[in-house]
Amino acid sequence: MRPLTIIGNWKMNGSLSANQQLIQAMLGLGLTDLAKSARLALCVPYPYLIQVADLLANSGIALGAQDVSDHPNGAYTGDVSANMLQELGCQYVIVGHSERRQYHHEGDGLVARKAKAALQANMTPIICVGETEEEHDDGKALVVVRRQLQAVLDLLQGQVASCVLAYEPVWAIGTGKVPTPAQAQDVHRELRLQLAKFDAEAASKVAILYGGSLKPDNAKDLLAMPDIDGGLVGGASLNAQDFLALCQAS
Ligand code: G3H
Repeated sequence: MRPLTIIGNWKMNGSLSANQQLIQAMLGLGLTDLAKSARLALCVPYPYLIQVADLLANSGIALGAQDVSDHPNGAYTGDVSANMLQELGCQYVIVGHSERRQYHHEGDGLVARKAKAALQANMTPIICVGETEEEHDDGKALVVVRRQLQAVLDLLQGQVASCVLAYEPVWAIGTGKVPTPAQAQDVHRELRLQLAKFDAEAASKVAILYGGSLKPDNAKDLLAMPDIDGGLVGGASLNAQDFLALCQAS
């Protein structure tokens, strides 16, 4: 039985005062209690990692970052290494988010190397895959996510048990559109079957999250699907009530 995993991705949002209010509100609503039975984390912008680590201390809610360099150190201006994130208390880091793939031209190979860098620093990479609207309309969703996952499997091999996967159809992110639970389940099942070809035991354990306009009113049906183990939540993670409701939805 895989535990519910809900990961908030604040993206490029927040301020020192807003972060404090948001996390105090989340804790005031009882998120710490939920963290005893579910795996909860917040992935926040780099400048706020120290602040949020402090605010989340002893809450049971883990800290995460939204990207990481594939290099351990060196002349990579603006980049942040996995060891730096780990040193600040990060347990998770998102890699291959579609916004990185789209706006920063990150390809499958780089995403795989970032996941490997995270694992080497003892963090859990949250590896995102998902098709664009055009690929969806062309019926290519499964082909695209298989290709994206395969690049990771080729590089990580036996380490895949220590990863989290997230299926995020690009056309659903921030749009209010969501696949039907059955459509999302089809992709999640396919990802798990692909994992199982490498490592059947890992495939049964790895959390595969759904992301893309996940809200309190659609979460229950999506999270009820057998291969959907939780959510990677953007907009709704910026509202304490919504985030709490998502954590209670399954
Ligand atoms: O990482 C989160 C996803 O991109 C989903 O974002 O919930 O705002 O659609 P969203």
